[in-house]
Formats: sequence, C-alpha cells, structure tokens
Amino acid sequence: MLKTAVLVSGGGTNLQAILDAIDRKEIRDAEVSVVISNNPNAYALERARRKGIPALCISPKAYETREKFHKALLEALRDSKAELVVLAGCLVVIPEMIIREYKGRMINIHPSLIPSFCGTGYYGLKVHEEALKRGVKVTGATVHFVDEGTDTGPILLQKAVEVKEGDTPEVLQRRVMEEAEWILLPKAIDMLAQKALGPE
Ligand code: GRF
Repeated sequence: MLKTAVLVSGGGTNLQAILDAIDRKEIRDAEVSVVISNNPNAYALERARRKGIPALCISPKAYETREKFHKALLEALRDSKAELVVLAGCLVVIPEMIIREYKGRMINIHPSLIPSFCGTGYYGLKVHEEALKRGVKVTGATVHFVDEGTDTGPILLQKAVEVKEGDTPEVLQRRVMEEAEWILLPKAIDMLAQKALGPE
C-alpha cells in the first residue's frame, strides 16, 4: 500500500478527486496517510477530516524563521511515513532539502500543458488568464515530478482540454480541473502505486 502525503493550500478539489478515486478503487494500493496545508482555512483540511485522515496545518506564519517552517514540514512528512508526496493545489515553495529527500517521489499537478504557461508566478487563475490572452485553442493539465526548479521536473502525464469561444478564466479553470486535473492526478498515483512508472 503506497502511503501518500497530500499537500494543499485551498479548496482541495484535487484532493477530493484522489479520495473519491480511492473509494471507487480507481486508485489501487495507495492511501492518503496525511493532508498538510499551509493555510489553516483551507477547505481541503475539512475534506480530509471528513474521511478521518490526519489533517495538519503547518503554516510559515507559526514559525520564527522559514528554516524552522521547513524543518517542521519535513518532520511531518517523515512522521507520516509517506512514500509519495503529492502537491495538489499547494502554493508553498517546497525547499530543496525536502525536494532532495523525496526526489522521484514527489509529484505536482499544474493547470497547463507544460512548458506553456508555467514557472514562477503561474498558478491558479493566472495560468488561464495567460492562456486566454495568448489565444491558445488547446490547454490542459500536467502531472510532473518535482525537481529544484519551478514546474521543470520530468513530465509524467498530460491531458489536453479545448478552449472554447467566450471562455472566461474561471470557466476555463473549471473545465481544466474537471476534464484534466481530477483525472490525471488519481491516474498518476495509481500508476506509481502499481510501480508502472519509476522515477527516471
Ligand atoms: C487549481 O487552480 C488547480 O489548477 C491548481 O491548484 C488550484 C486549486 O486546486 N492545481 P484545489 O481545488 O485546491 O485542488
């Protein structure tokens, strides 16, 4: 059983997609052993609590220094015995010491077809605003392994989504979540749990 830690910051719809996929056995041989948020108000924590999953808030604001925050986050991940770390709408920059410890065992969902519309500053609605501004006809989502860069790690899965006439950033974001993110992340976890894919 692949123990998985899920890091969140917001509404947790990607976390919910993971939990639902486990219930439907679309994810085999994996379990969410902890959900960690930097944001105490993240509804994602409530989604975890409803499933009886340990839901921790580890906020930078609660620590005197960034380094102490990083150490607390790493300790929580170690305590969870997580073998896979999933960034699911996580807006915290993961420090190199954690990325190194989970090299090849940490994945992120990004709401575009990397290498388009990604990198520093590209998260949430901004990604879709830029896609609409550029006038792309197709966008989508990407699951990639996390490395020391921003959205630069090896790509694991991608799924394309049509941009429609008159789309607003909000409408496009929702379509990308429904048609791509919520499908890709569970699939990636299942694949890794089946060891169908090892990190490069
Ligand atoms: C969404 O914009 C998603 O594209 C990105 O993080 C944001 C929040 O996702 N991955 P969630 O609802 O908290 O999973």
